[in-house]
Amino acid sequence: MWQSVLRAVESDPVSVAQIGEPEAPRQGGSLTLDNAISLPDYVDTMDVHLMPGNYQGGHSDGAEAGVIYDNGLDVFSFGMMGENLDDIGHSMANFTRLKWPDLDPSLIVDVGCTIGHNTLPWKQAFPDAEVHGLDAAAPCLQYGHARAEALGVEIHFRQALCDALPYEDNSVDVVFSSMFLHELPTALITAFFAEAYRVLKPGGVLINMELPPNDALDPYDAFYLDWDCFYNNEPFYKDFRDLSYQGLCTDAGFTDADFFQATMPRYTYVSEAEFSQASIAEASFDEDTGRLSDTITWYAFGASKRPSLP
Ligand SMILES: C[S@@+](CC[C@H](N)C(=O)[O-])C[C@H]1O[C@@H](n2cnc3c(N)ncnc32)[C@H](O)[C@@H]1O
Repeated sequence: MWQSVLRAVESDPVSVAQIGEPEAPRQGGSLTLDNAISLPDYVDTMDVHLMPGNYQGGHSDGAEAGVIYDNGLDVFSFGMMGENLDDIGHSMANFTRLKWPDLDPSLIVDVGCTIGHNTLPWKQAFPDAEVHGLDAAAPCLQYGHARAEALGVEIHFRQALCDALPYEDNSVDVVFSSMFLHELPTALITAFFAEAYRVLKPGGVLINMELPPNDALDPYDAFYLDWDCFYNNEPFYKDFRDLSYQGLCTDAGFTDADFFQATMPRYTYVSEAEFSQASIAEASFDEDTGRLSDTITWYAFGASKRPSLP
């Protein structure tokens, strides 16, 4: 899969080189890189899911890693992840809108956003909010910024690490992540959740789109999703899926009562009425949960931060 896209990307170095300088019309988004950030070892030394050069590049300079990721995901997803590879973002943002109708967010942060596929839909669902996309990898952010401007969506991309979120205490309404946690060592997931709890306003929401936990699935379906751990350079994948997701939330400070998990159809493939059931229904698990197919259902979990007492 990666070889098939590398050839196309390498044959057009001029276009790739221009990505760092998006042209008008500008949408008001921004890109803030931080040279002082040193990448964690597991990002710097490993090609996760066998992607050449990983997210930070290494294959060559500039935004090329972002181009490779975008095109590789397009091949991988076979048209099942939305028109702009953004159905996860639409599903999670609209689930949040329906489940917490009083939220009215002013700041939404997507952590581990890569090139922002699933960041842009938050701005589309909550046009009055400021939406930030954070990631460790500069080349993906460069590409993500150019992509968002080209698609006409105002997003603020920022290079930052998940265990040092660049926000004041109690200042963020939504902390979102998508397909992110399973690429982290457990200690870093714990540190990220503590940071999410710290920066969230009382009443704010942490929502993570992820693979469902192993203990929710039949043994074969659970094994099927863990395949990548053993054969696709995803070393943390199984350890993550063996964790208690509720325990991750409560260890960070959220209460058991404020934990949630949900399964939902793809927002951009079904009617609003069908989708809205997900915001009130119990999560239900089967072979379609998190498994790429025409009938896939997304899984999400997280917690809201207990509102302050009057
Ligand atoms: C699988 S990708 C996330 C996909 C993306 N959220 C989406 O929905 O398309 C994982 C991302 O996490 C980033 N990352 C890994 N470790 C990180 C860390 N400690 N802090 C911030 N970002 C990190 C990587 O650079 C990569 O872009």
